[in-house]
Amino acid sequence: MKLFLDSAKADEIRHALESWDLDGLTTNPKHVKASGKSFRAVLDEIAELFAGTDKPVSVEVDPHLLDWRKIVSAGADLSTLSPNFVIKVGASEHGFRAIRELSSRGIRTNATLIFTVAQAWHAARAGATFLSPFVGWKEQYGEAPDTLIGEVRAMLDTHDYSSEIIGAAIRNPRQVGDLAVAGAHCVTAGLAVYQESVRSPFTDMGEQIFQAAWDETPA
Ligand code: E4P
Repeated sequence: MKLFLDSAKADEIRHALESWDLDGLTTNPKHVKASGKSFRAVLDEIAELFAGTDKPVSVEVDPHLLDWRKIVSAGADLSTLSPNFVIKVGASEHGFRAIRELSSRGIRTNATLIFTVAQAWHAARAGATFLSPFVGWKEQYGEAPDTLIGEVRAMLDTHDYSSEIIGAAIRNPRQVGDLAVAGAHCVTAGLAVYQESVRSPFTDMGEQIFQAAWDETPA
């Protein structure tokens, strides 16, 4: 399973590239806002950070755009800024139409805000490079997310679609593990989730036991 960072902050991205063997990046309008910089300034910074790599970077078109032609135009413009850029488009009738057009032009896409297998199927059929089911949002609003990823993966495999699943909106290490078991191709999460996911209180306890044994062993 590939590890993507979900962020638009340059310092976090630099750290993740160096320390986490990052496979790619996802951003969204919330992350861009949190960076405190303009949309264009963030895109330029990110393009620079990934220049010379083949790592995909998902950048979202203006979510106000509800006409597929305008989404295509905005996506095509964004795609000229960096060969790494993958155009993130919301799941909707216009969104899927835009994904179909962008795909036909050879522009990679990420269908975002996916909550059902049917939405994932529409996106895959339209040629989306990536599908982003929002696992954490489903759980937050009281729906069990655990079967969604497995069902989307089964749908893709059954029909031989080439889209890759990015398990998104990941809030905790359990969700990271669940994604890997369920067959997500990629996970995207914030740095804190990855940092927490390498730890266990039992590992800390075990280290203490081994340190004590080490100290009590005759030299
Ligand atoms: C994924 O691509 C999204 O950017 C992200 O996971 C959305 O969720 P969040 O910002 O609430 O974590």
